[in-house]
Amino acid sequence: MAKMWAGRTDGVTEKIADDFNSSIAFDSRMYKEDICGSMAHAAMLAKCGIITDAEADVLTEGLAGILSDLESGKLSVDMTAEDIHMFVEQVLTERVGDVGKKLHTARSRNDQVALDLRLYLRGEINSICEKLKRLTSVVTDKAEEYKATIMPGYTHLQRAQPVTFGHHLMAYAMMLLRDIDRLSDTARRMNVSPIGSCALAGTTYSTDRRFEAEKLGFDGICLNSLDGVSDRDYAAELLSDISIIMMHLSRFSEEIVLWSSWEFKFVELSDAYTTGSSIMPQKKNPDMAELVRGKVGRVYGDLMGLLTTLKGIPLAYNKDMQEDKESVFDACDTVKMCLDVFCGMIETMKAIPENMRKAAGGGFINATDLADYLVVKGMPFRTAYKISGSIVAQCIKEGKVLETFPLESYKEYSELFDESVYGAVDLDSCVNRRISEGGTCVASVERQIAEVRDLLK
Ligand code: ARG
Repeated sequence: MAKMWAGRTDGVTEKIADDFNSSIAFDSRMYKEDICGSMAHAAMLAKCGIITDAEADVLTEGLAGILSDLESGKLSVDMTAEDIHMFVEQVLTERVGDVGKKLHTARSRNDQVALDLRLYLRGEINSICEKLKRLTSVVTDKAEEYKATIMPGYTHLQRAQPVTFGHHLMAYAMMLLRDIDRLSDTARRMNVSPIGSCALAGTTYSTDRRFEAEKLGFDGICLNSLDGVSDRDYAAELLSDISIIMMHLSRFSEEIVLWSSWEFKFVELSDAYTTGSSIMPQKKNPDMAELVRGKVGRVYGDLMGLLTTLKGIPLAYNKDMQEDKESVFDACDTVKMCLDVFCGMIETMKAIPENMRKAAGGGFINATDLADYLVVKGMPFRTAYKISGSIVAQCIKEGKVLETFPLESYKEYSELFDESVYGAVDLDSCVNRRISEGGTCVASVERQIAEVRDLLK
């Protein structure tokens, strides 16, 4: 069958060329946006007197019928069509006759596809934000549960200073909040309408782009028609936002993998979010966390793929740009799945406070507090630091920890030591004296929790 664009050529193409050229397999998911965009376009054409009101009604009804038939399954997408835009227009013309051929007045597929993609991704941003909010709230609830549970805080994966598990979890809540903020920012820049840019240069008809944009919920219009049809910044921005979300999830995943190992055993994942081995009966594997960590690779690939596709494309529309969709759709699908699975995994994860505490007690994690103890008693910090380091070395030699190092041994290092040193190196007091804003003491974690819950409202 000859193509809708037959004219300049006979429109008869090889099957292999059709298959190669077609984007329906992946752009059919934008059917709703395409139809809603066309309804707004028909309304604009009528408002500007380019078609009659009666014609607009016929078009709108026809489009509404296609939408409901697609949703009910009465109509299915023809996978041999060139793309979703051609498919909808073709079915419309079959159903309503020649009026259908008027719909494409004062627009082009170039601004149409740019419109559909913005509308579609706007919806995706909303649903990713909802999922992020849910995860943030799950993480915050967990943090509350463990706001006083002491664990080692690490630098270089070496035990550094004691923190609470609640404080550690709230660090992730902060990352997720920034992710939401970043997406809202992208959504704001994305929410301008390209429709009416037409093929590249605008149109000779006296259209009302702002009317059409407003009907579709945009905040404004793309101010330059060449830019309107060739801008894909919003897709690249969204992909980089998603890449950052995935990076956060992957850091979280890595910690969950470590924490659930026998070497740490800080947490126990629910059976519902782990798998077994086909050969080793003892295994309980954190597959969900590993898969999330792994999927970051494909999402970074999606971002690099799009950036590379866009690089060096001259203005305005070029067919290269059809390659924009699969990467951004894949990233949206992936991050949504990861966020859902993460929610369940964290919700059902249980900490093992005894093990966390044991690990916190074994690594001289309170050595900074020992130095601070001497500083409070008047010693300069550098001197106190050096003495504390020597005491740690002595403890290691004797197989002791700061809590069990005898007072007379302490006194050999400085006369400033007395019985109160044991209170200073006690883990609970180490944590609860860290009262600076954003610090790890229980009251500070409670403040963080309250703040985040407030922001989530
Ligand atoms: N399927 C095309 C895409 O995804 C639609 C735009 C086609 N425009 C054109 N001039 N061939 O980009």
